Amino acid sequence: MLLKIESLTKTFGASTAVDRADILVDKPAMIGVIGRSGAGKSTLLRMINRLTDASSGRILVEGRDVLTLKGAALRAWRRDCAMIFQQFNLVPRLDVVTNVMLGRLNGHSALASAFNVFGEADIRAALGHLERLGIEGHALKRAEALSGGQQQRVAIARALMQNPKFVLADEPIASLDPMNAQVVMDALRRIHEEDGLTVICNLHTLDTARRYCDRVIGMRAGRIVFDGPSELLTEAMAREIYGAGAEFSEASTSTSIGALAPDAALARTAAGVSAVG
Ligand SMILES: Nc1ncnc2c1ncn2[C@@H]1O[C@H](COP(=O)(O)OP(=O)(O)OP(=O)(O)O)[C@@H](O)[C@H]1O
Ligand SMILES: [Mg+2]
Repeated sequence: MLLKIESLTKTFGASTAVDRADILVDKPAMIGVIGRSGAGKSTLLRMINRLTDASSGRILVEGRDVLTLKGAALRAWRRDCAMIFQQFNLVPRLDVVTNVMLGRLNGHSALASAFNVFGEADIRAALGHLERLGIEGHALKRAEALSGGQQQRVAIARALMQNPKFVLADEPIASLDPMNAQVVMDALRRIHEEDGLTVICNLHTLDTARRYCDRVIGMRAGRIVFDGPSELLTEAMAREIYGAGAEFSEASTSTSIGALAPDAALARTAAGVSAVG
C-alpha cells in the first residue's frame, strides 16, 4: 500500500472542511479530485502534505502515520510529496534554473544552502528536468518573464528536483489558458507514467479529470461521494458531486481543453495504461 488515508477530518470551528475521508492508493496512480468550490479539495491535499494539521484520522505511508511526524522525519515526508500550486509559487526575480534548484533545499541544511548553494550535480539535474519539460531554453531567464504555462512547468521541474514519490497539485491549471493547461496536464501525466509517481490533482473541471486521470475522487461538502475509475463517473454521479440542479451540464464544469488535440486519453490507452480500481 502506497498511501492509506483513514477517516481524515478537518474542522474549522463549527464547520467541517473534510469529513472522515478514506482513500487507498495501492499502486502509482494519477488521481483527480473534483468538487465545487469549498468542497474540501485543497484542505485534503494540504493535510497530506502537513501544510494544514488534521483534526483527526490517519495518513499511513510505509507503515508510519504521517500526521505524527516531526522534525527531520516531517521534512523528509514533505520532500516525498511535492506540492504544485495554482499560482506556481516561484521566486519571480530569480532565474528559472535557480528556481528549480530550490527544490533541493529541502535536502540541505539551512546553513549549507545559505553558503555553498548548489553544486554542479544540482545544476545538471535542474537542466535535465527543464529539458524534459521542454523549457530548457528559458533556464537563464527570470521566472517572471515566462508565460503561466512555462512557469507551471518550472514548478513541476522544481518538484521533480525533490525526487518525490507523490506530487500533490492544487488546481495546477486554473490560471492557464486551454493550450497551456493541456501542456501542463500532459507533463503531470508523463511524470506519473514515466517515473511511476502518484499524482493527486485537484481540478475544477470534470472533463480534465476524465481525460487525464485513471481515477477520480469526487468531494461534496467535505465528504468523498465518488471514488472510482473515470469511466464510471456518469453524468448522474457528476450531478451528485457538484450538487447542481437542472442547470447542470458538462459544459458548465468544462474548459475547452477537450477541443485541443492530441487526445491524452487515447494516448494513454495506446500506452497500455489501465484504469485504477
Ligand atoms: N483556514 C481556514 N479557516 C476557516 N475555514 C477554512 C479555512 N480553509 C478552508 N476553510 C473552509 O473549509 C472548506 C473547504 O475549503 P477548501 O479550500 O478545502 O475547498 P476547495 O474544495 O479547495 O475549494 P476551491 O475549489 O474554491 O479551491 C470551505 O468551507 C472553506 O471555507
Ligand atoms: Mg481549493
